[in-house]
Amino acid sequence: MRESLSRRGFIGAAAAGPAAAAVVTNGKPALLGGAPIRSVKFPAWPIVRENDEQALLAVLRGGKWGRTNGGVAKKFEESWARTLGAKHSLATANGTSALIATLGAMGIGPGDEVIVPPYTFVATINAVLLHHALPVFADTDIDTFQIDPRSISAAITSRTALILPVHMGGSAANLDAILEIGKARKLPVLEDACQAHFGEWRGRKLGTLGAAGCFSFQASKNLNSGEGGAIVTDDGDLIARCDSFHNNGRGADPSGFGYVRNGANLRITEFQAALLLSQMTRTAEQSKQRDLNAAHLTKRLREIPGITPARLEDGCTRSAWHLYMFRYSKQAFDGLSRATFLKAMAAEGIPSSRGYVPLNKEPLMEATLSSKGFRAIYPEKRLKEWRERNQCPANDRLCEEAVWFTQTMLLGSKEDMDQIADAILRIKAHAAALRSA
Ligand SMILES: Cc1ncc(COP(=O)(O)O)c(C=O)c1O
Repeated sequence: MRESLSRRGFIGAAAAGPAAAAVVTNGKPALLGGAPIRSVKFPAWPIVRENDEQALLAVLRGGKWGRTNGGVAKKFEESWARTLGAKHSLATANGTSALIATLGAMGIGPGDEVIVPPYTFVATINAVLLHHALPVFADTDIDTFQIDPRSISAAITSRTALILPVHMGGSAANLDAILEIGKARKLPVLEDACQAHFGEWRGRKLGTLGAAGCFSFQASKNLNSGEGGAIVTDDGDLIARCDSFHNNGRGADPSGFGYVRNGANLRITEFQAALLLSQMTRTAEQSKQRDLNAAHLTKRLREIPGITPARLEDGCTRSAWHLYMFRYSKQAFDGLSRATFLKAMAAEGIPSSRGYVPLNKEPLMEATLSSKGFRAIYPEKRLKEWRERNQCPANDRLCEEAVWFTQTMLLGSKEDMDQIADAILRIKAHAAALRSA
């Protein structure tokens, strides 16, 4: 967990200090030498129980470690599809491969435009670029942190081949509006549900409402096997093409040496699948705990001027709470920068992150668009148009104001949530003094 949080830019909590209980909210901030509000670490991740050890040992001792000769991956796929209410599931090596395989199976390729959010993990964009298609960025709704459907409509051209929304933080993008746009414009919708395990839209599981949905089981995720991923869909032909793509383009030839399409080895291992099955015995309980804590935290944070928790879309009947996201207003905190706010939170024993950067502006885009392959496919005029179109001002602002907590913090107690809110209140009360810290 430590490693994965630092990978994503989380600032670590301070080391244990004097008993937190004795510290009052308006005491001196820890960054200015006071005692931290919190001296105990938030719950560790992953959570490992005996059933995980047994599951891994069974695969180890059984000697069938790959899915080509084992049956555990199949068992996980059946369980995942059943739990989500989808007809089919295919497990993959990770979430990125789930996206790459699905885009490959959908025939997304050179010349196509795929509508994506700029507020996502880079894998959403990389999967599109690896197929030599053009990601077209739709702006973000600053209130929900989700892709803005109005911006999707505006971004559609005759070359658009797919809408690829992300359920950011595990809360739902506006699926009513997005599916309606897809239907009206005859475009498939692929849900990037990599952060959204067991989140819901009007009672249906995220990932199951579009043409297909992709999941990640990477180490930080609410369901974790170190690495891992899955595709779900009700479309039997699509899942068969995904299966073939993720298995080096194999066809039905029983020898295993007949190839019907280009593909790659994106297969999950039996170890990963075994761990997913054993970890799934606890996900319902963990989701409930996150729901309770997120509701209490939201209630507390809404009372603090300058802190605005991400609003759930009306149709989002359940968030996965992979991230707890809010906006921080520097103006409401006496001009205290977000960077110093994060530092002050860490000193109080509360790790937090500034979250994503605007992907439409990352050097990755220019580097790819000016590469040999892209220049061979796209005329200069089209790339120039792309550069002019890809402005996302709401997202730019969001990336300056966002703050995240991780899902593991929501596995703590109600008192933990109160300490988070108390730390923010303390920082607010001393914001002017902290400005020079
Ligand atoms: C929104 C989103 N899409 C795709 C991915 C890629 O998943 P993985 O890291 O399992 O390849 C992630 C993982 O962080 C993600 O958060």
